[in-house]
Amino acid sequence: MSMTHLKEAMIDEMKDLYSAEQQLAEVLPQMAQKATDPTLKAGFEKHATETQTQIGRLEQAFGLLGETPAAITCEAMKGILKEGKHLMSEDTSPEVKDALLIAAAQKVEHYEITTYGTICTWAKTVGSDDVKELLGQSLNEEELTNQKLSEIAEKGINLKAV
Ligand SMILES: [Fe+2]
Repeated sequence: MSMTHLKEAMIDEMKDLYSAEQQLAEVLPQMAQKATDPTLKAGFEKHATETQTQIGRLEQAFGLLGETPAAITCEAMKGILKEGKHLMSEDTSPEVKDALLIAAAQKVEHYEITTYGTICTWAKTVGSDDVKELLGQSLNEEELTNQKLSEIAEKGINLKAV
């Protein structure tokens, strides 16, 4: 695919993220099920709902740009989730499993934060303030989720897992 303008590159990144969010939407309910700590479990359930909203926002953003929503398989998310699944299958105590779930989830959040960040910056550059505004809401949610995961880990789970 030839990309001569930043807007095309932006749409490409959106397709990557659309795939990433869809992959994550499938896995988050399983992560919630595997979590033992009730706060962590509730956190995953909340983020599963948020992820559905974020998929909707991406569809809306494609529409604002006159594009049909489409996904390009996000190999990075595929890899992070595959690695997470592998770790989850290890024989560990529930506390260590929770710590591993948080570690995997934070890798996911960081990937999403950096991709939403790039798209929002590019959207502003190409004059798509509406897209920046819309996907900026998702960026905020990802940042809050990441902070919340750090808090849950540092306030209890990590110590219980020692
Ligand atoms: Fe997300």
